[in-house]
Amino acid sequence: MKGIVLAAGNGSRLYPASLPISKILLPVYDKPMIYYPITTLLLAGIKDILIITSKRDIDNFKELLGDGSEIGVKFSYAIQEKPRGIAESFLIAEDFIKNEPVALILGDNIFHGFGFSSMLKTVGKRTQGATVFGYLVNDPERFGVVEFDKNNKAISIEEKPENPKSNYAVTGLYFYDNHVVEYAKTLKPSKRGELEITDLNKIYLEKNELTVEILGRGFAWLDTGTFESLLQAANFIQSMEINTGMKIASIEEVACRMGFISKEKLLEISKRYKQNGYGKYLEKISKTI
Ligand code: G1P
Repeated sequence: MKGIVLAAGNGSRLYPASLPISKILLPVYDKPMIYYPITTLLLAGIKDILIITSKRDIDNFKELLGDGSEIGVKFSYAIQEKPRGIAESFLIAEDFIKNEPVALILGDNIFHGFGFSSMLKTVGKRTQGATVFGYLVNDPERFGVVEFDKNNKAISIEEKPENPKSNYAVTGLYFYDNHVVEYAKTLKPSKRGELEITDLNKIYLEKNELTVEILGRGFAWLDTGTFESLLQAANFIQSMEINTGMKIASIEEVACRMGFISKEKLLEISKRYKQNGYGKYLEKISKTI
């Protein structure tokens, strides 16, 4: 399975902070925002990842992440010229995806919760249909919204409905089989001029091939779109990390736990950051994994 991180938006709600640099490179507490979605893909066992970004930011992403060989994975890069919608990712990534299933995650989506790794492992092995994740929210009109019948089967999906049929938002993490490029090619731009991911999910729903996994109440799906939510996300990550002594979304640690790099390699990487707590953490982890 291939993976895509969509990190192309202009993040205008975080101007002026995101005026010269992608919001996805801003820190969420102690690491760049993109570490969080990348970790989600790594936990699903995905090692071949395309980062779709804007022309302005591509070199910054390359400087941060390189070709991935350092952590035993492969990062490649592509440009989305204009914000023409999430589903355009599959047209941009056609040559990258080839004939494989693919997972897409939005660069500003942070997931954290018990049991998530094992859920990702299971979903990452599916080769037929699509899987999305539903999460209970207070303000569903801001999101794609999924409605269920009595047997918890998804029966409708709507993008930012005025009158939501449920309080379940569809999060920004999507898994698709190898028909996704073919289906994406049939989409037409919505009223806001975008190829909507919700329209793509509707195609799978109509074919009875959409699975919606529910992320329960103990689960955190964090928003980073505004200054308030970005700070709240950072505070959440900080308190979890301080309470447990473990870091959330260290790509180097996860690569080691997934067996993509050795403990010796992790120790070597830790030396690069030895002047701060991140490096000291990697050093400690390399000795206890
Ligand atoms: C997008 C999707 C929406 C989804 C949300 C998750 O919204 O269109 O269906 O619920 O991401 O973050 P947008 O970022 O375009 O407002």
